[in-house]
Amino acid sequence: MQLRKITDGVSWLGVVDWNRRLFDSLIPLPDGTSYNAYLVRGTDKVALVDTVDPETWDVLQRQLEEVDTVDYIVAQHAEQDHSGCIPHVLAKYPAAKVVTNTKAKGMLMDLLDLPEDCFMIVQDGDTLDLGGKTLEFILTPWVHWPETMCTYLTEDRILFSCDFFGSHLATTDLYVADPPTVYEAAKRYYAEIMMPFKTIIRSNIAKVETRDIQIIAPSHGPMYDDPAFILDAYRDWVSDTVKNEVVLPYISMHGSTQQMVDHLVGALAARGVKVHVFDLTVTDIGKLAMAMVDAATIVIGTPTVQVGPHPAVVYAAHLANALRPKVKYAAVIGSYGWATKAVEHIAGAIPNLKVDLLGTVMCKGIPCADDFTALDALADQIKDKHAEL
Ligand code: FEO
Repeated sequence: MQLRKITDGVSWLGVVDWNRRLFDSLIPLPDGTSYNAYLVRGTDKVALVDTVDPETWDVLQRQLEEVDTVDYIVAQHAEQDHSGCIPHVLAKYPAAKVVTNTKAKGMLMDLLDLPEDCFMIVQDGDTLDLGGKTLEFILTPWVHWPETMCTYLTEDRILFSCDFFGSHLATTDLYVADPPTVYEAAKRYYAEIMMPFKTIIRSNIAKVETRDIQIIAPSHGPMYDDPAFILDAYRDWVSDTVKNEVVLPYISMHGSTQQMVDHLVGALAARGVKVHVFDLTVTDIGKLAMAMVDAATIVIGTPTVQVGPHPAVVYAAHLANALRPKVKYAAVIGSYGWATKAVEHIAGAIPNLKVDLLGTVMCKGIPCADDFTALDALADQIKDKHAEL
């Protein structure tokens, strides 16, 4: 794809990675992704905001054939999908300076072996005049690494936000053209990498909102020419508000836990509680993460394997603990053959979740009438707790 004009002197360049299906060897990318870079031409100087994943350097290299000079490479984030081509760009434009903050400088030196003298360090609120184009640097830590920052182009009212507000979505749309699709991709992205940092994200939203923003230009997915679309979504996701929903990841080996899950799901649905059910043998962990953004309660279902929970359940519990969703309540259901410590293991695996443990229902062998009665009682308890919220 060629450079695409955004405003006079400002262009999108970068890569639409249609076929990438996994990020960080962890995160599913069902809809591909993009690595967006931006070129800002002033009357005096030219700045490139971020680069692209190094695997796709050939694309950026071709785009830069029509760019005679780059004076500044603004590195908003040290992760390699944005910084990884900085060495290539420096080789092409040896006089260019890498403009970034102090923390990012250290990380870029560690990750890319960049020489110390290539950097120009900026502080929060510093500006860089390119000649009729002024870049203001806004430090926004933990979206999603400690060094992340945004760049505001004053004259054009464009906020370059890197991962912040991004979406893993391969599309030829320069701007959001299909809001539901982008909302889904952006929420998935938030859930997978931003959710642990809800509190500081709130302050970062407030910080960038003090600028008059016409366009938000993230480094993944399409740009937002209606910034309120993504700002409102983020405000909702990082709020303390939870929904009358349960997320229920589980494994069943011989059917007992499956019966428990089926009964509880039916009991909750009958009580007006929405349930997101994830059989972990076939689960897209991105969808599981998304369901955890809003749910008031997590119920973990597990059989017993060697006294503890099934390893796939341990993985899901570890994921939930790492993502720190705003769930308020938790419960464990499942089964065992002769003895179990599954509940204790799961409880020990989720210390980051600030939840009230509503209860556990573990059946011995196949579930009996008392077990189903206990599940009905758990459903009553969940319904009542949600009503209090
Ligand atoms: Fe898109 Fe944190 O890199």
